[in-house]
Amino acid sequence: MWYSLETIVAWAKRRAFAYPGSEIYGGLANARDLGPYGVELKRNIVDARWKHFVQERNDMVGMDAAILMNPKVWEASGHVSGFSDPLVDCKKCKNRERADKLIEEYIAKHTITIEQVQEKIWVNALAPEARTFEKQTAFLNEFKVKCPKCGACDRTEPKKFNLMFKTQQGVIDGEGKDIYLRPETAQGIFVNFKNILDTTRMRIPFGIAQIGKSFRNEITPGNFMFRVREFEQMEIEFFLENDEEKGLKWLQDRKETSENWWIEKIGIKKDKLRFREHGADELSFYSKGTRDVEYDFPRGWGELQGIAYRTDYDLQQHMKFSGKDLQYNDPITGKRYVPHCVEPSRGLTRAILTAMIDAYDEEEYTNQKGEKETRTVARFHKNIAPVKFAILPLIKKDEKQVEIAEDLFKKLSKLYKCEYDDSGAIGKRYRRQDEIGTPYCITIDQQSCEDGTVTIRDRDTMQQTRVKIEEISL
Ligand code: GAP
Repeated sequence: MWYSLETIVAWAKRRAFAYPGSEIYGGLANARDLGPYGVELKRNIVDARWKHFVQERNDMVGMDAAILMNPKVWEASGHVSGFSDPLVDCKKCKNRERADKLIEEYIAKHTITIEQVQEKIWVNALAPEARTFEKQTAFLNEFKVKCPKCGACDRTEPKKFNLMFKTQQGVIDGEGKDIYLRPETAQGIFVNFKNILDTTRMRIPFGIAQIGKSFRNEITPGNFMFRVREFEQMEIEFFLENDEEKGLKWLQDRKETSENWWIEKIGIKKDKLRFREHGADELSFYSKGTRDVEYDFPRGWGELQGIAYRTDYDLQQHMKFSGKDLQYNDPITGKRYVPHCVEPSRGLTRAILTAMIDAYDEEEYTNQKGEKETRTVARFHKNIAPVKFAILPLIKKDEKQVEIAEDLFKKLSKLYKCEYDDSGAIGKRYRRQDEIGTPYCITIDQQSCEDGTVTIRDRDTMQQTRVKIEEISL
């Protein structure tokens, strides 16, 4: 069952998950701010990831690099020369699009036979030759691909558009040094590889994890938080021996680890996930193999996580550009080499979006009067639900009930994010919690004052059970 993106966007705003950025000034295209429940959801996803991949492992450490880095980092990594998309402008309505995306979408919607394809035109939008501007222009003209906004078929030739945000460091106007906002967190790890080796007891194989903001001046951002210009990533660089066979095996083994994490720790539905291997013609220049974890978003399958076997590309490049020796000395074999690296890279912003889409549900049920009603219920996994317990005194004028409820809030909120709500009819309070995905509502009633028990209502089944206060835990 899919709910439209418009439904998710409206609910996310109504229930304080995500607001349009700078809204009182008319907004800023595709910028989003997380609200009180959105930020709890994000913290829970981050915690689930850190616990599973860093805290519970002996072969992983974390770090947090600066967003602003020496510009040479981006020359070495290839981002200055190669991190660009082909940009085309519609001459009629000035709409800006990515040539490769226009072609991909055209091919997805139309059946193109080989006969239709002239010698000079390729069918596979992802083939390496498809990346040349001449071929892209040829395709767009040959198949009269229309502007998605105005329908015209008159556009500029594709031109390279670098996706990095440039800014200036320095206090004197015009004399500052050009620097970039990082387009990925990964390079912060590579440039600290030697620091970590020298200052910790980590030995290969081991991994370094990081979570943080990245910035890309995307030509076609959109689909709510799917493609935005400021987003967060959760990346790991796992360093291995310089052995291609072992690297490819490690890449293969990530399939289960990755899928299981999304399903078991974040609660994403199994049938909405798929694992896709990049064909040889689709690989980034530095990758010997790439697998994506994709989610079935309302507008189609989209990447949630990429796992790339980056070989020794990055460390070699940084050795070349920095002049520093980043080789590893194996303490057992005495071998000296530049380690290879496999990179599982998860989008945190996309994970938040996916968790919201996956959890959102509308359900018809019969109320206590026997009438049919519909409730909105966010079925978040209890690991990531923004609020774990709602504490609801049935009658707010009953001093004893309030005393028990306040005492319970004080105790439980030391361990979990809880909410105290004493306003309105109890049914309405349950609905409010259902909408933000609180797994358990605890109601304090007259019987609580007599025997120290409370009722716990399960969000999904709506069943209530009576338990002793001391027994409550997640
Ligand atoms: N270091 C490798 C790297 O950055 P990527 O496939 O470009 O690889 C990794 O990005 C993940 O970051 C993606 O799977 C996606 O979840 C997220 N991501 C990339 N661009 C994004 C954008 N513009 N908005 C939101 N998330 C994005």
